[in-house]
Amino acid sequence: MNSAPDQTTSLAPPAATQRGRLIASCAPGTAPVLESELCALGLPVIQSRQTSVETEGGWPEIFALNLQLRTAQRVLWEVGYGRVRTVDNLYSHVRRMPWERWIPADGYLTVTSFVHNPSLRDPRFATLRCKDAIVDRLRELHGRRPDSGNERSGAVVFLYWNEETAILYLDTSGETLSRRGYRKIPLEAPMQESLAAAVVMASGWTGQANFVNPMCGSGTLAIEAALLAIGRAPGLTRPGFAFEHLLGFDPLRWREARLAAAQAAPRAFSGRIIASDINPAAIAAARENARAAGVADRIEFSVCDFAETPIPEGGGLVLLNPEYGARMGDAATLEPLYRGIGDFFKQRCRGYLGGVFTGNLELGQRVGLRPRRRISFSSGGLDCRLFLFELYEGSKRTRIQATITHPVGDKGAGEKDVN
Ligand SMILES: C[S@@+](CC[C@H](N)C(=O)[O-])C[C@H]1O[C@@H](n2cnc3c(N)ncnc32)[C@H](O)[C@@H]1O
Repeated sequence: MNSAPDQTTSLAPPAATQRGRLIASCAPGTAPVLESELCALGLPVIQSRQTSVETEGGWPEIFALNLQLRTAQRVLWEVGYGRVRTVDNLYSHVRRMPWERWIPADGYLTVTSFVHNPSLRDPRFATLRCKDAIVDRLRELHGRRPDSGNERSGAVVFLYWNEETAILYLDTSGETLSRRGYRKIPLEAPMQESLAAAVVMASGWTGQANFVNPMCGSGTLAIEAALLAIGRAPGLTRPGFAFEHLLGFDPLRWREARLAAAQAAPRAFSGRIIASDINPAAIAAARENARAAGVADRIEFSVCDFAETPIPEGGGLVLLNPEYGARMGDAATLEPLYRGIGDFFKQRCRGYLGGVFTGNLELGQRVGLRPRRRISFSSGGLDCRLFLFELYEGSKRTRIQATITHPVGDKGAGEKDVN
C-alpha cells in the first residue's frame, strides 16, 4: 500500500480552562434552529453546515450542550485531524494520537465512522483499523486494553474520513441526544424527539401562546413543546452520556451542572398545551411519556377525533403529524384525512397558525389551503415538510404574527415562502 507522509495533528484536550472545537450534529434542515439554540446558550457559531454547527468550549460547554440542546443529535469534540490516504496511513496516524489522555484502558470503547475513501472496498475496515490503533496504543502503554464493541455504553470515538481528510472526534453524547429517555411507550411511527423539537421551533412557536396537537400519537410534539415552554433541559431525563466514560470527566462538576439545570425555575407559561388522539392507547402512552419527561401536569390530554379537539381562545399553533402512508396506512386512503384537516383548520382554528408535518408532499397539498411556508426536513432519509398555514380570522393577521415569530430570520434552511 502507498504510505503517504503522516500529517495528522493532535489537538490539546479541553480541560476546564481550555477550549476546543465542538461540533453539534443535527438532521438535515435543522441547522438554522440549532444555530439559534447555540446563540441562546451564549456560544459562538463558528461555522454552520447542512448537518452540523460548530462552536467551541471545554467541559462546561460539553455539559451544557448535551443537557440543553433540543435539536442536536450528538456533540463531538475534535481531537485530531490529518491527511490520510490509505488504511495503513490511518492506522499509524491514529496510533500516534495520545488516546491515553482520554480513553481509560480498563473501560469500553466503540468506534463509529463516516468513511468515503476510494482506496477502500469496505468502509468498516477503516473503523476496525482505527479501533485497533487506539487499543494497540493503550495496550502498549498500560499492558491492558479497553473492551470494544458496538454498544455506545462507554467511550465513543467517531472517525470522519472523507477523501484524504481524516478527523477524529470524541463523541461526547454516545446514544443520539434525540433519545431523551422519556419515551417509555413509543407506539407506531413516533417522531424522533430532536426532530419534533426542531419542527416546533421552526414553526416559530416559542411558548408564548397555546399549542394544540391533535393526532398526538405517543405525544412527542406536545412533550417537546412543553419542555420548550417551561425552558426545561431536555437532557435531564437521559440515563447517561458518553463523556462520563472519558478521562478528565469530573463527576462533581457534572452533578452541579445537572442540579443547576434541574433546579432552574421553570419559565412562566400562560398558554395551554392540548394533545389528543382518536386511539385511547396512544393517549395512555402519551400521558406516561409526559410523566417520564416531567411535564404531565403541563399537557391536557383527550381521546377524540382530531376535528373535535378543544381549541382554546387566544390563538397559537395547531400542529398535526398525520400518518403519511410510508409506514402506516396507504396514501390514497389518507387523502380524505388531509382534506379533513383543511376543513378543521378553516372551521375551528381561525386566529391560529396551522401546521402539518408529513413525509408525503402530495398528501400535504390535499389540505387544500395555500401554505404560507414549507420547511424541509429529513426523517430516516425521507424528505419531509412542515406546511404552515396562517388561518386568518378577519383582521387577526396581526395576532398570529405577534404570538408566533420565526426564530431564525425570515427563512430557515430548506424553507420556501409560498405566495
Ligand atoms: C403518525 S402518528 C403521530 C405520531 C406522533 N407524532 C408521535 O411522535 O408519536 C398519527 C396518529 O394519528 C392518530 N389518528 C389517526 N386518525 C385520527 C383521527 N381521525 N383523529 C385523531 N387521531 C387520529 C393515530 O392514532 C396516530 O396516533
